[in-house]
Amino acid sequence: MVTGGLGFIGSHTVVELMEAGYEPVIVDDLSNSSPQVLDGIERITGRRPLFYDYDLRDKAKVKEIFDRHPDLQGIIHFAASKYVGESVENPLLYYENNICSLVHLLHEALAHDVRRFIFSSSCTVYGEPDSLPVTEDMPVKPATSPYGNTKQIDEEILRDSAKAYGLQVIALRYFNPIGAHPSAEIGELPVGVPQNLVPFITQTAIGLRDELRIFGDDYPTPDGTAIRDYIHVVDLARAHVVALERLMEGRNKEAFEVFNIGTGRGSSVREVVDTFMKVTGVDLPYRITGRREGDITAVWADTTKAENELGWKARLTMADALRDAWRWEQKIRNKKSNP
Ligand code: NAD
Ligand code: WQD
Repeated sequence: MVTGGLGFIGSHTVVELMEAGYEPVIVDDLSNSSPQVLDGIERITGRRPLFYDYDLRDKAKVKEIFDRHPDLQGIIHFAASKYVGESVENPLLYYENNICSLVHLLHEALAHDVRRFIFSSSCTVYGEPDSLPVTEDMPVKPATSPYGNTKQIDEEILRDSAKAYGLQVIALRYFNPIGAHPSAEIGELPVGVPQNLVPFITQTAIGLRDELRIFGDDYPTPDGTAIRDYIHVVDLARAHVVALERLMEGRNKEAFEVFNIGTGRGSSVREVVDTFMKVTGVDLPYRITGRREGDITAVWADTTKAENELGWKARLTMADALRDAWRWEQKIRNKKSNP
């Protein structure tokens, strides 16, 4: 079962799962995605996965899916609300969607003896790290947003459930996922004005936004702009398949495991902008403005644990991801003007 399987990371994971021979059952309420994503998945894989347009907050619907699919082998849980700013304005939406949905899912999973669980966590749990790169054993810092708090609470719920009920959990802490499938059949579909850097860049490049604002060039970094670990969404998707295989083969060492999923390399905002212009040939209009509230200076992953334990390592570069994100942006805008 792939919850949130029509979203940005979920859809790419569904493709990787299908290409690895799995038969995903998607549950997604379309609150932040479109049913057309299924067409993209079908064009890439040649098959259309099973899909339920159900809201995980609805307990009866969650039960129904488990009843209908007694052969489920595991759960990859992407479904959540993910906008940091929105979570500050409407925290209850976040606590309900990101926590109640998980609890419903766990109740039914255990009742139906489905014990393999992969969870979408986030590098946001590290806050502003004390040293870099961050390893999984570094402390979880007090959350700076309700969204971040839900990821911390969800990890705790899963840790406790692994201990109490024999659930086998892998929490993947994603760094900054970017890019799109190289076929340009699926990609990111942000609602409204994008909050994240790469969709803002591609929308500016295509002419939907006047200019990119670079939030601060007075950080204590080599070029003054903030540093993140940008991971290609296809590499990230692959990490889920590898994590599932670890659970299927019983190779996990603890009932609750955490892995950083990033490239292990930090890139500054300026480097992202320069690389985008280089790989696309587009002259991107941008302006330096003040820092964005709540932003940290730098974070990137130590990926040694994922390499040694999962046998997973990012293969694609930030340049690959920017090229694929740009291809996707061009494709969706052309479609809209020539339906
Ligand atoms: P997304 O919004 O594109 O995908 C989430 C999907 O879940 C959407 O298709 C949405 O319609 C669905 N959904 C939401 N609530 C639901 C509900 N109650 N019932 C059924 N479906 C529901 O987000 P994404 O970027 O693909 O993120 C996937 C997961 O990864 C999320 O848990 C997110 O918090 C986490 N994450 C994302 C990032 C990032 O930068 N994109 C970084 C770290 C962690
Ligand atoms: C990246 C860099 C910005 C937009 C967020 C969430 C985090 C995680 C991933 C889910 C920063 C700069 C951005 C713009 C800019 N999500 N920037 N101009 O903030 O690292 O992480 O998404 O778990 O929880 O907080 O990602 O893409 O928003 O920003 O200069 O228009 O780009 O200041 O340095 P962030 P981002």
